[in-house]
Amino acid sequence: MNPKTPFSLLALVALVFVFSSSSSVNALNILQQLKGYDDYGAFVDLLNQTKLYQKINERNTVTILALTNATIASIQGRSDDEKLAIMSSHVLLDYFDKIKLNKISKSVAITTLYQSSGAANDEQGFVNITRLSSGQILFGSAMKKAPLVARLEKEVFTKPYNLSVLQVSLPIIAPGIGKVILPPPPPPFTPPPSESPKKSNDDEEEESVSPAEAPADSPESGSPAPSPVADADAPGPATGNEEDTPADTTTGSGASRIFVGAAMAVMALVFNFL
Ligand SMILES: *[C@@H]1O[C@H](CO)[C@@H](O)[C@H](O)[C@H]1NC(C)=O
Ligand SMILES: *[C@@H]1O[C@H](CO)[C@@H](O)[C@H](O)[C@H]1NC(C)=O
Ligand SMILES: *[C@@H]1O[C@H](CO)[C@@H](O)[C@H](O)[C@H]1NC(C)=O
Ligand SMILES: *[C@@H]1O[C@H](CO)[C@@H](O)[C@H](O)[C@H]1NC(C)=O
Repeated sequence: MNPKTPFSLLALVALVFVFSSSSSVNALNILQQLKGYDDYGAFVDLLNQTKLYQKINERNTVTILALTNATIASIQGRSDDEKLAIMSSHVLLDYFDKIKLNKISKSVAITTLYQSSGAANDEQGFVNITRLSSGQILFGSAMKKAPLVARLEKEVFTKPYNLSVLQVSLPIIAPGIGKVILPPPPPPFTPPPSESPKKSNDDEEEESVSPAEAPADSPESGSPAPSPVADADAPGPATGNEEDTPADTTTGSGASRIFVGAAMAVMALVFNFL
């Protein structure tokens, strides 16, 4: 007798069991699918706590924008409502793997599970996915003034064309849902304040990391360094700002108007190239 037979038979039985149970009970058993992906442990805990996994399991086609333990820390202490709103903004009701992301011509606005909650206002329930000409993929709330805060870090796994799990660099928080988190300042190897910052080859890759930093990098504005976790009303990374500045910004001063004007000009330039 072949001693391997019982094992392969057992494996087959186990496989059949897994498939039949998962397809008869849920379309997508998301908690099960993410089991063992330890980097997203805190994210999975939140899917569980908020019961969002139940809503996800009712769907046939979703893309999860997953956050690592380190990046999700900033939303763990928030209220239950806010956590639910933020977490459901990370569930896109469409399938996007790397191949499909690379076919986006410029940008698309994708419906999230937050939209289907009925609690969303304006564009809060949509995520903007933008593909830069460099090939980099950025994510942000589709709300008008919202910056594209997150970038694609990796495709974690896919089950074409039902489930895709992508790792993104920062939480995507629509204005009005809670405090927005902006990308960190440029990496620490930038030389300390000096008259003429030198450009080294190493800068190249880092500079393309986040569009939120792009305007501040330009010589035009006399560039104040962007603050690390700036409030949405900080003028520094002026990514999403259009003519009306956020409510709590002081609009009166001529200098700030000039700054905003310059930032807008740079923005217009930048987005012309997208
Ligand atoms: C995958 O999606 C198709 C249609 O979009 C659906 O018929 C099928 O049940 C889904 N499978 C799973 C495992 O969710
Ligand atoms: C992430 O956090 C969860 C608990 O929230 C923990 O179980 C898991 O081990 C952590 N993963 C890593 C890689 O630290
Ligand atoms: C979800 O939370 C419950 C307790 O609320 C826990 O018993 C269960 O193990 C959790 N499931 C996962 C996959 O973390
Ligand atoms: C996505 O965001 C970019 C930058 O803010 C914007 O130019 C573009 O129109 C947005 N796309 C959609 C579909 O909302």
